[in-house]
Amino acid sequence: MNIAVIGSGHVGLVTGACFADLGHKVICADSDAKKIQTLKSGKIPFFEPGLLDLVVKNAAKKRLSFTTSIATAVKRSEVIFISVGTPTKESGEADLSSVESVVTQIARSLTGYRLVVEKSTVPVETGNWIKRTMQINLPKSRKADFDVASNPEFLREGAAVQDFMKPDRIVVGVEIKLSEKILSSIYESIDAPIVVTDVNSAEIIKHASNSFLSAKISFINMVSRLCERVGADILKVSEGMGYDRRIGPSFLSAGIGFGGFCFPKDLAAFIHIGEKAGADFGMLKEVININEGQKKHFIRLVKDTLWNLNGKKIGVLGLSFKPDTDDMRFAPAIDIIRSLRNDGADIHAFDPEAMPVAKTVLRDIRFARNPYETARSADALLCLTEWKEFREIDLARVKRLMKRPLIFDGRNMYDPKALGELGFEYVSIGRPAVR
Ligand code: UDX
Repeated sequence: MNIAVIGSGHVGLVTGACFADLGHKVICADSDAKKIQTLKSGKIPFFEPGLLDLVVKNAAKKRLSFTTSIATAVKRSEVIFISVGTPTKESGEADLSSVESVVTQIARSLTGYRLVVEKSTVPVETGNWIKRTMQINLPKSRKADFDVASNPEFLREGAAVQDFMKPDRIVVGVEIKLSEKILSSIYESIDAPIVVTDVNSAEIIKHASNSFLSAKISFINMVSRLCERVGADILKVSEGMGYDRRIGPSFLSAGIGFGGFCFPKDLAAFIHIGEKAGADFGMLKEVININEGQKKHFIRLVKDTLWNLNGKKIGVLGLSFKPDTDDMRFAPAIDIIRSLRNDGADIHAFDPEAMPVAKTVLRDIRFARNPYETARSADALLCLTEWKEFREIDLARVKRLMKRPLIFDGRNMYDPKALGELGFEYVSIGRPAVR
């Protein structure tokens, strides 16, 4: 099938490259000429495992091309996926101006029938707005016609290609049978259940799923505080809960809170949607409160142990909001580091991928060339992202380098007993501290 993907950000580019790899002919559009130039030259503008190979391979096979022109993308496609950004406004509401602008341009470029599919995460009833906007802007003299559908993405950064190719489910929100047929045939070669529903329900499925997952994380973080107070072990509590199939083991890792561009944004948007519709989503406000509190709690653990921070050297392992991505958006590391800097701490940080981005966000800290450099003469070492490389670090060497062998592990990467035996003071989340 000929497919256009409008918006070549994380979601759009993964979607476009994966559709091409499934055998479709895909044209990816983006208004950012620099980004399109980067893609045309065989590079990708962000780090995502496996994506570069897919882009290069499918561009070479002429199944994947790039343009800055929406009109060109519309002309060459039968189905148009919209995956432009829907950032958060001050009020928490999603800003849909890019969606409106793109839809207007699609409508004005339309010469025949197209299926227009929302891929971006959008508030419920956006499908109706897209339909109205299309109708208003359709060229009157031509035989332009369209249908609107919703096909939300559930891609995790760092595992996006795998999530696309092996999804738990595919959600398809449609108004007519033809749209269902078209979308089912696009995903024909993917082995996953397809949930077919109306457009409103599909839109809600996305926001409800991300809100539920965030709630799971805040729940376990809340319980981790109790564990710390009474000397219990959150890892065992999670394990014991996770074996219950009704609960499941995933998203029960306590830490320094969730970050990234999706969870905080989608929670704020869903709360706003609920309020607008007169539904009480107070539970989700508490999910945010616990998440913010978790970062503050971690900062307090550091301060309570180090006393005055002024002039103390603190090493930081990990900056991205989670491993296998260079994404720093809403990374807990930003708030934590800024707070410690405000108290005068001298921060030396290392991240395997996120340092170029981090340098633009955290301007007054030092960046190390490797993890060991962060430990040299440090009063404490903070683990903020659980990169595999940090799990496998030579801890005996780290200890020799540090001024005070003290680790604050915000991701529960290490075994407290082993760290104690190596001579570390070790403070982690929801587990007894080793001192
Ligand atoms: C998320 C959703 O998983 C995905 O389906 C959606 O489409 C986009 O948003 P992503 O933001 O890439 O994906 O990251 P995810 O792996 O879900 O992690 C989100 C955050 O939660 C990270 O900061 C992570 O560290 C944190 N997290 C996750 C926990 O603190 N504990 C957990 O148990 C799981």
